[in-house]
Amino acid sequence: MVELTGSTALVTGAGSGIGRAVALMLAREGASVVATDLDEDAARQTAEAIDSQGGSSVACRLDVRSAGDHVAAVALATSTFGGLHIAVNNAGMGSRPTPLAEIDPDFWSLMLDVNLTGVFLGLRAQIPAIVSAGGGSVVNVASILAMAGRRGAAAYVAAKHGVVGLTRAAALDYAAHKVRINAVGPGFVRTPMIGHMDEAPLIASHPWGRLGRPEDIAEMVGFLVSPRADFVTGAYFPVDGGYLAQ
Ligand SMILES: NC(=O)c1ccc[n+]([C@@H]2O[C@H](COP(=O)([O-])OP(=O)(O)OC[C@H]3O[C@@H](n4cnc5c(N)ncnc54)[C@H](O)[C@@H]3O)[C@@H](O)[C@H]2O)c1
Repeated sequence: MVELTGSTALVTGAGSGIGRAVALMLAREGASVVATDLDEDAARQTAEAIDSQGGSSVACRLDVRSAGDHVAAVALATSTFGGLHIAVNNAGMGSRPTPLAEIDPDFWSLMLDVNLTGVFLGLRAQIPAIVSAGGGSVVNVASILAMAGRRGAAAYVAAKHGVVGLTRAAALDYAAHKVRINAVGPGFVRTPMIGHMDEAPLIASHPWGRLGRPEDIAEMVGFLVSPRADFVTGAYFPVDGGYLAQ
């Protein structure tokens, strides 16, 4: 099934983990992919992996905190592939557990800038291009921690809750323009982001009995950006092995 042929997709944080799996999945489904990351080499490696599996891609450095970087990446999508139809705002950063009163205000700002404002700046640049292309779909990568708290993670939890609110508001603003905007909520997924965490208690917190794989999240993103999800917008979808059902 190659459902996205003729589409162009932009992915942030495409150099690692979930973003790389999403970029590879979009390419397998036929989309041309703009693979972006703060780490330009990592973005390029993802683009090379796409090209080596017969896909079509371009890589660029994009710091999600930079409004100009988002605009430049969208311009690259348009100049290289003729338009933009799909965006996945995936880039994010975690943190070491820190009780709220010990969070440095500068660190709080960094976490909100990357994990929340980065999504706003992405939407701000992507939506006009998607509207110009006649409509399309955006998926914002939130977290189970967009719906539940976690000890020691106040800044991350606040930012991810914000991503879901932003997703709902943006979906309402652009439904009439045929831009669907949804959020996914991964459970704990084995990527470098959680490399410092003790796995056993994390696995135990998922009723399905394992951690997520980046491909688990990519599958949900693939559905949400496809025509099969034509009536789906403004919604949040956990992909969490039952974590939030508890
Ligand atoms: N891994 C998990 O358990 C988990 C759970 C829930 C949600 N998420 C979310 O999934 C998304 C992807 O995380 P991952 O687990 O694949 O992590 P990862 O660390 O493997 O990848 C994150 C990528 O984002 C990039 N990045 C970081 N800061 C950036 C910035 N300012 N601008 C552009 N790119 C930047 C990094 O270079 C990296 O390539 C994040 O939004 C994260 O919060 C992850």
